[in-house]
Amino acid sequence: MSFAEKVGELIEELEEARVETLEEVEEFRIKYLGSKGVFKSLFHEFKEVSSEEKREFGKKLNELKSKTESLVSDWKSGFSEQPQESSNLDLTRPGMLRELGAEHPISIIKREIIDIFHAIGFSVAEGPEIEDDWHNFSALNFPPEHPARDMQDTFFVANPNSEEDYVLRTHTSSVQVRVMENNEPPIRVIAPGRVFRNEDISARSHCIFHQIEGLYIDEGVSFADMKQTLEYFAKEFFGKSEIRLRPSYFPFTEPSAEMDVYWGLESEVDYRMTKGTGWLEVMGCGMVDPAVLDSCGIDSEKYSGFAFGMGLERSAMKRFRIPDIRMIFENDARFLKKFKSAL
Ligand code: DAH
Repeated sequence: MSFAEKVGELIEELEEARVETLEEVEEFRIKYLGSKGVFKSLFHEFKEVSSEEKREFGKKLNELKSKTESLVSDWKSGFSEQPQESSNLDLTRPGMLRELGAEHPISIIKREIIDIFHAIGFSVAEGPEIEDDWHNFSALNFPPEHPARDMQDTFFVANPNSEEDYVLRTHTSSVQVRVMENNEPPIRVIAPGRVFRNEDISARSHCIFHQIEGLYIDEGVSFADMKQTLEYFAKEFFGKSEIRLRPSYFPFTEPSAEMDVYWGLESEVDYRMTKGTGWLEVMGCGMVDPAVLDSCGIDSEKYSGFAFGMGLERSAMKRFRIPDIRMIFENDARFLKKFKSAL
């Protein structure tokens, strides 16, 4: 093959060259530009050709070589910017689905209850989960050694600055105290939060759960106001308008009551849920004890009010048919995903 033919063949080859991977770029580079490559041997031969051919091909050969070098470097940078398989990229494939998180069942219930009370002028208050004895017990009329403290098995937390331990709050009623200490009536708040009790864990009870507390203080607030407010809540939340108030006892309210909602006995599930009575126990409530108002710096001669507190887990379990309270805390993704539709 003459030198001219060899150059012609090289031009053709270079025009047709295609690479699919970075390895093929390297193979190409070695084949043409390597120390034993095509250009090397052509330049070697070039020395031997006639001066006429030198004139014809010298410039051409140099041009070809630098073109080939820039081709290799373009290919290389193209491959390093993209994943290896970029040339197999199928642009018609559907996009990657970015999964949205789901709202936790407790958050759904909490949000609904907040909305219901928000509509009648209640705002949200918060307090710490690690509380002092005063806010969790003493200010709420549970004096030290009072047997009512045994109603709530308490987790204690060592307090580095004092003899007196902190507690993990056993109820959200502690937030009532903080709100009353820091605000003047009228007060209308609800306080959602986590609470802790030293109880055995089973399908029906846990040592952590959630409550929502309510507090309304103003001049002339009566038991009838409480009943109306709770009736409104039952209608909005459960879609049921019949409630009953059973006498009960809490140290911080006088009188105290348990509120039940009439759920009905239409199905077998209703029987199970209401233990055959048709009534669902919903919350504790009562008129704030004047001693509590005074402890929190509110004039009990001038003001009165009501309070209520309810657990969220039981409502969530009923609403979403969750058979075991532990599922609420385990954060198993298969369980949490079920609540997608609620978003
Ligand atoms: N703190 C009570 C509990 O955890 C619930 C409760 C009852 C809260 C009556 C209240 C109330 O505000 O008035 O058992």
